[in-house]
Amino acid sequence: MDPSSIAYVICLVSLITICITAKAQRNVFNVLSYGAAGNGLTDDSLAFMKAWKDTCSAAAGTPTLIIPKGKIFLVHQITFTGPCKSNKINVKLSGTIIAPNGPDQWKAADLSTWLAFQGVNGLTIDGLGMIDGRGKGWWDRSCKFHRGQQGCITLAPTVLKFENCNNIHMSNIKFHNSPQTHVLILGCQNVDFGFLTIQAPGTSPNTDGIHIQVARNVSIHNSQFADGDDCISIGDRTSDISITDISCGPGHGVSIGSLGRGGADVQVNNINVRRVNFRGTTNGVRIKTWQGGRGIVRNVSFSSINFQAVANPIIIDQFYCDIPNSCRKSNTAVHISGVRFSQLFGTSKTKVGINLNCSSNIPCTGITLEDIHLASATSDSQLISSCNNAFGLNRGIIDPKSCLRKII
Ligand SMILES: *[C@@H]1O[C@H](CO)[C@@H](O)[C@H](O)[C@H]1NC(C)=O
Ligand SMILES: *[C@@H]1O[C@H](CO)[C@@H](O)[C@H](O)[C@H]1NC(C)=O
Ligand SMILES: *[C@@H]1O[C@H](CO)[C@@H](O)[C@H](O)[C@H]1NC(C)=O
Repeated sequence: MDPSSIAYVICLVSLITICITAKAQRNVFNVLSYGAAGNGLTDDSLAFMKAWKDTCSAAAGTPTLIIPKGKIFLVHQITFTGPCKSNKINVKLSGTIIAPNGPDQWKAADLSTWLAFQGVNGLTIDGLGMIDGRGKGWWDRSCKFHRGQQGCITLAPTVLKFENCNNIHMSNIKFHNSPQTHVLILGCQNVDFGFLTIQAPGTSPNTDGIHIQVARNVSIHNSQFADGDDCISIGDRTSDISITDISCGPGHGVSIGSLGRGGADVQVNNINVRRVNFRGTTNGVRIKTWQGGRGIVRNVSFSSINFQAVANPIIIDQFYCDIPNSCRKSNTAVHISGVRFSQLFGTSKTKVGINLNCSSNIPCTGITLEDIHLASATSDSQLISSCNNAFGLNRGIIDPKSCLRKII
């Protein structure tokens, strides 16, 4: 080889090295490199937006957005929009993100959402970080506490929304004090959320843990919920939803619904809720539908559940109405079909341990009660079960004694 070709090879090798180095650098995007202060006071929104833009347009490996540990980032409303160039995106949230402090600090015109991922596929969020919604200022002005008062708040931001995102994973993240719902899954498929902590006071209004709507194949597992509304609520157009190994309390329980409001045509299929501990919640496992709805809730299983001093441990309410005196009677209802309650144990704060309150026009069918033992949380008195238009079968020992009617 003559010296010029050796030089050529060396040159080529170093070029490749430069390219590889540049490529390797170009898939990690730290918000600090984009000017974020991370002092909890400066508005870091712009730095987040710029870092996201580069993360989402990177192609190499798994582009990663870094929100580093030991820092507090104040950001205003942000939508992290996809689709991204890579079908794998990682958000490494190790620090803390805080919201504007209450309605007076809120700048955006839209009050519905604080942080959102929209149309992002293959997203993984992890990193042991925390998202703090600083909801107190919103709760203090809630219409729930100031009914009819001018300027009271009915709509406050959801902390984190995933909209039209597929293949998303989130683990080891803490959520605190959302102004309203903590996490919303809307229009997504293949969702795996685990090892989350969601925490707000039991008295905070409408602070649901996770709400799922228009979604398929969602798993929520190994997580702790304490809030002022449903720990998890499953809305319309949902199927293949699995909720396992969670704790709930304070809160309003795990709910399917409310469904069928305003005559809506409901489709909810294949819901599996298993290994849940409820402590001091207003409800345990619940299905709630409005009169006048249509459609069906089918193939639901609630199993291996423990209740500690829960007001309504097992409840189907087809007469749900949270606007007193404004709900009219109707001949139609959402059909509830194929619901299994199995291995449910613990204590009830009210006398009615099992309450299956179904519509006379569209009864609940295919209900199975299997191995249930509930006792009073407050006295030695015997609990009862109450059924209206509930059909199905019993297996094992049911205590309080089952009131189901035989299959029609
Ligand atoms: C359901 O989602 C998980 C990811 O959470 C994925 O691994 C699995 O393949 C999906 N199943 C179906 C049937 O799409
Ligand atoms: C009922 O739902 C479970 C998941 O909870 C699913 O595995 C099963 O296949 C469903 N059954 C039918 C008949 O769809
Ligand atoms: C069943 O629903 C009706 C209509 O809302 C209500 O009046 C009744 O008290 C409910 N029954 C039970 C046992 O909760």
